[in-house]
Amino acid sequence: MRNSFENEIPQIHFKDVSFSYPEKKENLIFKCNLSIEKPGFWMVVGKNGTGKSTLLKLMNGIIQPKNGTINCNANIGMVFQNPDHQILMPNCRSELLININQNISDCEINQKIEIVLKQVGLAGFEKRPVHTLSGGQKQRLTIACALISNRNFILLDEPTALLDKTSQLKVLKTIKNLTSDHKKPLSALWITHRYEELIYADAVAELKNGLLSSWQEPSKFQYN
Ligand SMILES: Nc1ncnc2c1ncn2[C@@H]1O[C@H](COP(=O)(O)OP(=O)(O)O)[C@@H](O)[C@H]1O
Ligand SMILES: [Mg+2]
Repeated sequence: MRNSFENEIPQIHFKDVSFSYPEKKENLIFKCNLSIEKPGFWMVVGKNGTGKSTLLKLMNGIIQPKNGTINCNANIGMVFQNPDHQILMPNCRSELLININQNISDCEINQKIEIVLKQVGLAGFEKRPVHTLSGGQKQRLTIACALISNRNFILLDEPTALLDKTSQLKVLKTIKNLTSDHKKPLSALWITHRYEELIYADAVAELKNGLLSSWQEPSKFQYN
């Protein structure tokens, strides 16, 4: 069951959510409770196959819980592991253009493109062909696409899994900056299996054996 509620702050609430894929008997996600009530950099960590991507599919409504309730009023944007599966157009400007979903003037469009490229550290990249971008630059372009389409909550599914260390840090810092903006902070849920990324988060939860832990401070996060 999926409800919506009126609120300006994007929020996601899971109440006792369980899920299993049709051909599987056991619950992949079991009685999961999760609340994200304010903007920030939220991370969920878990080993491969624990159901992290499934959790995101439940959040954005691609699949429905078997039991429990999901309330979500967020305007969700997605960033996947491989940007080549997501980017459609030949250059940065055209990719951003297909993500603008409002009727606005050319002047406003140009302003918006400039703003979002700057926000992700790609100022001046407007005419750059996508095939000349590094993996990390492509990931930051997909984040810019979410911003230009006015998403207020970005779900990132292992966005650094294919990146080298330098690009990984740039993508992490891009989301850190956006989520800690003092005027209009973004909400981001970052899925990872890399424990070294957790220090960037405002709060961390672990998905393990179908159970999601409560939110913890990254410095106090315990794992085994
Ligand atoms: N569409 C699907 N149908 C059946 N099983 C699936 C489907 N998608 C994922 N699974 C299974 O669910 C488990 C968790 O998958 P996933 O959510 O992708 O985990 P993670 O993202 O943590 O690696 C895996 O065993 C996977 O094979
Ligand atoms: Mg996954």
